[in-house]
Amino acid sequence: AKELTVLGIETSCDETAAAVVRRKADGRAEILSNVVRAQLDLHRRYGGVVPEIAARAHVELLDAAIQQALDDAGLTLDEINAVAATAGPGLIGGLIVGVVTGKSIALARGLPFIAVNHLEAHALTARLTDGIGFPYLLLLVSGGHTQLLAVEDVGRYRRLGTTLDDALGEAFDKTAKLLGLPYPGGPEVEKLAREGEANIPLPRPMLGREEPHFSLAGLKTAVRQAAQQRAPLSDQTVADLCASFQEAVAEIVEDRTARGMALYLERFGEDAPRQLVVAGGVAANQRLREALDGLCQRKGFTLHAPPLSLCSDNGAMIAWAGLEHFAKGESDGMDAEACARWPL
Ligand code: KG4
Ligand code: ZN
Repeated sequence: AKELTVLGIETSCDETAAAVVRRKADGRAEILSNVVRAQLDLHRRYGGVVPEIAARAHVELLDAAIQQALDDAGLTLDEINAVAATAGPGLIGGLIVGVVTGKSIALARGLPFIAVNHLEAHALTARLTDGIGFPYLLLLVSGGHTQLLAVEDVGRYRRLGTTLDDALGEAFDKTAKLLGLPYPGGPEVEKLAREGEANIPLPRPMLGREEPHFSLAGLKTAVRQAAQQRAPLSDQTVADLCASFQEAVAEIVEDRTARGMALYLERFGEDAPRQLVVAGGVAANQRLREALDGLCQRKGFTLHAPPLSLCSDNGAMIAWAGLEHFAKGESDGMDAEACARWPL
């Protein structure tokens, strides 16, 4: 195979990111640069991402992020083979900024452009970091998505389970908010959970159900009720609520993933590679990883969890997903468009 070097652009939410990734002729992948400009400080006071503020910030930050990514890689655009940008799903204003910028660079340089699906990029990251082959089972858990997918090949994904209401990261964020913790709530809940005891009874919705779907809204409501019953809340009670919530989530995720594994083996056969990849921002949670570690050991699966910097949104995963498509001879025309909704 020929050596390929791709510039990736990510602007679907509140990270302005650009990166350069290379696959060498021998197949080895290398992240040459990975620049992430977080916009957190702009959004924190609103308790969540404000789409219009995010879009404007992308406009301001993106050019410099791309230049930084090229500089860090020690490359000029002459040494780039293709430009990839997240085209969806996500916040439309930001997506347009990334797609238009990516297409402009591609057009000016006569380079191919690849419109990347953000979820697919999360799904393929373990191939960049761990070099794993197909198929594998993917647990994608982020602020906007909760999915169990069978990944068969580049462009071939089968959804085994999803959430019927809130995404897992959203459940962490909403729970944190109702406990008066800052946004984003996931890391805050995890931090406080370490100081608390999981001693407050909470439900485990969907546990034991045949289809590996999730439902998290009821759990969040149960936390609200438990908090109201115990008001005014001491710091210790808040920590206990965080620990109890996180414990419930870990048990739910373990149970649902176990069902996903069973369906995966039904589909690909008992001899299929037993690989579980966990991706998305919530994959940063240590308690969750522990639960998945235990499950994998029991079921003979290997757990692949990309490093934290590549679990949350970044440009390297976009460059890599673009590279995987480009290597198959696929690219998009200048009519490629940003789309807020784009299911895998
Ligand atoms: O993948 P990501 O960076 O952005 C997208 O949603 O695409 O995921 C962000 C989500 C947020 O909901 C955040 O609260 C959650 O991941 N998160 C965590 C942790 N770190 C980030 N949730 C639980 N525990 C964590 N340590
Ligand atoms: Zn994401």
